[in-house]
Amino acid sequence: MAKKIAVFASGSGSNFQAIQEAILRGELNAQIELVVTDKPNAFVVERAQNFQIPTFAFQAKNYDSKDHYEREIINQLQEKGVEWIVLAGYMRLIGQTLLSAFPMRIVNIHPSLLPAFPGKDAIGQAIDHGVKITGVTVHFVDEGMDTGPILSQAAVEVVEGDQEATEKRIHELEHELYTNTLKKLFES
Ligand code: GRF
Repeated sequence: MAKKIAVFASGSGSNFQAIQEAILRGELNAQIELVVTDKPNAFVVERAQNFQIPTFAFQAKNYDSKDHYEREIINQLQEKGVEWIVLAGYMRLIGQTLLSAFPMRIVNIHPSLLPAFPGKDAIGQAIDHGVKITGVTVHFVDEGMDTGPILSQAAVEVVEGDQEATEKRIHELEHELYTNTLKKLFES
């Protein structure tokens, strides 16, 4: 049975697209039931529309608490029978409400070799630090910032003096690693 998943994203959604394309190629036995975004104008919304995948877009400022909007998200997920939450550039910390509703069923991708460089702009942090090797991590989500148990990692050589080229390498690797990791996770 295809796993029913929701992808959460706040930005471009290139990881969402890579996952959906892997599904369409028959490489990943899953179905994206819903895209959840906290940024109604994010490009991921357009990408979801192109695949005719429904979107739930919300704005945190319209709710009085994280618990409140997360309960609303849970309603949407339950309505669609979602089993797994796949974070792909979702720029909000997951709260206790969602964590309790989906225990060990939320995964995230982060563009560094965790525990190095958690949080925002991990690629910039790594370059500023002068590392020669950085990479990508897929991990389970817990209450911390990029701290949950690690599922998989892959390394990338920094392109000296060319942040754009380094970013390109990382994003290409992300698309491959995320799809492969989800495949193993859903088969286990
Ligand atoms: C990726 O670098 C991911 O690792 C990070 O946010 C970025 C999302 O990119 N968490 P995209 O929206 O999937 O293109």
